[in-house]
Amino acid sequence: MALWILSTQLSVLCALLLAASSVNAQSGSSQPSISTPPTSSEPATETTLITLPISSYTFSSFPVPSASPIPGTFSSTSPKSPPPPGSELIPDFAPAWAMAHSRAKEFISGLTLEQKVNVSTGVGLGNGPCIGNTGTLSLLDTGSNTTRLSWPGLCLSDSPLGVNYVDLVTAFPAGITAASTWNRTLLRLRGEAMGAEFRGKGINVALSPVLGMGRVPQGGRNWEAFGADPFLAGEAGYETVLGLQQNGVQACAKHYINNEQEHKRDHESSHVDDRTEHEIYLHPFMRAVQAGVASVMCSYNQINASWACENERTLNQLLKGETGFQGYTMSDWGAHHSTLAAVAGLDMSMPGDISFGSGTSWWGANLTAFVENGTISESRVNDMAERIIAAWFLLGQDDNYPPVNFDTFDPFNPAKNQNVNVQADHYKLVREVAAAGTVLLKNVGGALPLRAPKTIAIIGNDAGPSTRGPNGYFFNFGLDGTLARGWGSGSTSMPYLITPLEAIQERARQDQSDVSWFLDNWALAGTQPLVGSQGFVNGANDTAFGQDVAIVFVNADSGEDQTINTSNIVFGDDTLDFGDRGNLTLWMNADNLINAVAAVNNNTIVVVHSVGPAILEPWIENPNVTAVVWANLPGQESGNSIVDVLYGDVNPSGKLPYTIARRTEDYPAEPVTGGTADEILLVEYTEKLNIDYRHFDANNIEPRFEFGFGLSYTNFSYSDLTIRAVHHTDHTSAALEAAWADGEASPNVEGGSTAIWLHRPAFEVSFTVANTGKVKGGEIPQLYLHFPSSAGEPPSVLRGFADVLLNPGQSKALTITLSRYDLSVWDAGAQGWRKPDGQFTFSVGASSRDFRLKGSVPL
Ligand code: BGC
Repeated sequence: MALWILSTQLSVLCALLLAASSVNAQSGSSQPSISTPPTSSEPATETTLITLPISSYTFSSFPVPSASPIPGTFSSTSPKSPPPPGSELIPDFAPAWAMAHSRAKEFISGLTLEQKVNVSTGVGLGNGPCIGNTGTLSLLDTGSNTTRLSWPGLCLSDSPLGVNYVDLVTAFPAGITAASTWNRTLLRLRGEAMGAEFRGKGINVALSPVLGMGRVPQGGRNWEAFGADPFLAGEAGYETVLGLQQNGVQACAKHYINNEQEHKRDHESSHVDDRTEHEIYLHPFMRAVQAGVASVMCSYNQINASWACENERTLNQLLKGETGFQGYTMSDWGAHHSTLAAVAGLDMSMPGDISFGSGTSWWGANLTAFVENGTISESRVNDMAERIIAAWFLLGQDDNYPPVNFDTFDPFNPAKNQNVNVQADHYKLVREVAAAGTVLLKNVGGALPLRAPKTIAIIGNDAGPSTRGPNGYFFNFGLDGTLARGWGSGSTSMPYLITPLEAIQERARQDQSDVSWFLDNWALAGTQPLVGSQGFVNGANDTAFGQDVAIVFVNADSGEDQTINTSNIVFGDDTLDFGDRGNLTLWMNADNLINAVAAVNNNTIVVVHSVGPAILEPWIENPNVTAVVWANLPGQESGNSIVDVLYGDVNPSGKLPYTIARRTEDYPAEPVTGGTADEILLVEYTEKLNIDYRHFDANNIEPRFEFGFGLSYTNFSYSDLTIRAVHHTDHTSAALEAAWADGEASPNVEGGSTAIWLHRPAFEVSFTVANTGKVKGGEIPQLYLHFPSSAGEPPSVLRGFADVLLNPGQSKALTITLSRYDLSVWDAGAQGWRKPDGQFTFSVGASSRDFRLKGSVPL
């Protein structure tokens, strides 16, 4: 059955992608085009004059670290054996990269120009088994060089929550759920388990993680990413990359950069000032680089009027220059716009053809011709190939890496599909992450956890199965039944989906509770409910009336690129702008449903499965709504994970990775909509540093639930705050540290933003957390920095968090470190990281507004 679905999906996928690409190729007035497919004997040229500046940036294979590794703090590490999450040891991948580059340099030294171009150019959509495939190199003339090998090419595949387009894989909780755990260990384990599945299928490159910032709460793909704070997203991205790559899979950090809305994503220009770019949007990508990420995918949009995949500033200067990224960049599918993109820092064209299936390419023979006629230097092509082959060596993919064992585009052909089962026991981790990523928002009068209620009403379409099964909509472009992931390439097919209805019934069997349900969101029935036991149910209120507890399941969906609405989807009732949410209300009559149920049942518990924030004002203060549980997007074990939380087997410890506002207008920005087909839409980042909670704090706007908020079934107290400077005996960077202390900006050298002296712990903040309640529980203490007013920073910025699990009465001392980077702002004039003048204070507490301890940094 799963295969039948897959096949259906894939045939539509091809049609869809072809249609999308022809639109893209035809509509861009500013894009150069190639009229005839190029051949090697007759090189095609671009017919439109390209004004892309030729870079003055000098290419080097890998940056020279600006300080030597510090024994005991920075250990020379292979990506396949990173230190455990939260370890004092900070991995230094520079030596592993250096070795990989040296092998790659040797490997490519005997290749012809065409062969090197082949390494960098995808073979075209559908011309290989994976959603992306590079060219291959057959057995090379080894000569005296024994290390030279044939090269099988790369298989690239989605998605950020598991392997897409194949069968017998696990559907993990989405990125937004993983981020809501604020738990580095779980984030790492999720990455590691996903990596094992990618590897098991023979996929070289996992197109994961998504490191967008959720700038607009309606952003269609926000759920694929890790929330609306750069520090949180950076830590989640860091752990995910380490986990994925631990299994020898290459991770791909995407979508670089400023791809913050889906509406006209390939016809919008994000206008972002340099400081905001560095402090907000670049930060998570920098953390991915620090985790040794192999590849970075440039996005569909423009940044400051230059396409992301030919943007000299973001690719060459920021990524390869400042962060010292040593892997390769690839285009998002169809985001490649010119041959000269090579000069601006693009290393791989994906999927390789200009419009899908056209047989044309900006690279291939075009790139060869541009090198032969002197437009692009061969050293740039060498650098591209070297970076790609180096990433392959870095992850040990030359050493018994499994070959691809499926064909995305031909799933029923037994000769091409071995149907390898890679699921192992990952379902256990799915359940654990989904429960840990569930956030308790309201709990009045001990409504939760449930204690063997005699009668339970389960209400709402989101509680049950879809009439079409878990994979009934192509690319998940539809909503019917419980929501466990959004739609688009960031989805996966599910091996199964445990619904809340199913799991609660199983639990009820243990407690001998009576369970009734009503799954139609529109049939609310009258204000004089009939008693369900009479066997006469007209609507939700009839089912909810007289029951010990009524649990209402509701949702809000979004996704990539496509609009779903009532005309092609069964229950969607929202107005969407190509993937983005048209508004922040819950879907499918949810507000009316909740209020109708609460009108007849004074113990109404609301469970929300959502891609992002929603406006809860129509019912949040209703006294009969006794508890609200924010379950995000849980993946295949949805029902089991919510049962764990509802019944208290897991004490909720999740925290919101974004703000839930009282009104949509309270958010700092919304997607820009409209625009004619050819128009490049201007998206101005006028809120600058003040995304999400930073804006609410700066403007004294009361949120409904603030960033970092989440309740527990127990209580925690905070005490004993201390802060001390970290002294070290290594003096290699003493001059840099002294200059920084004097307020000088850090030097803008290659790898300067990831320099070791800037990131080593400079201060250690210690405090104690105690469980003062009656049940075991986990807490996520958060550290917010308050910069001196001279800095022009938001009032509070997240700079650290920890997780601790405590028995009742138990307490534990915790430490969070601050680096010089943490205490710096980006000085756009000096182009470096600088400590602002004045007094730095900080708070430690349970959310971005629940500060329990305050201190100042002894600078
Ligand atoms: C998406 C990427 C994805 C790629 C390949 C694009 O449309 O933006 O996230 O990796 O397709 O499926």
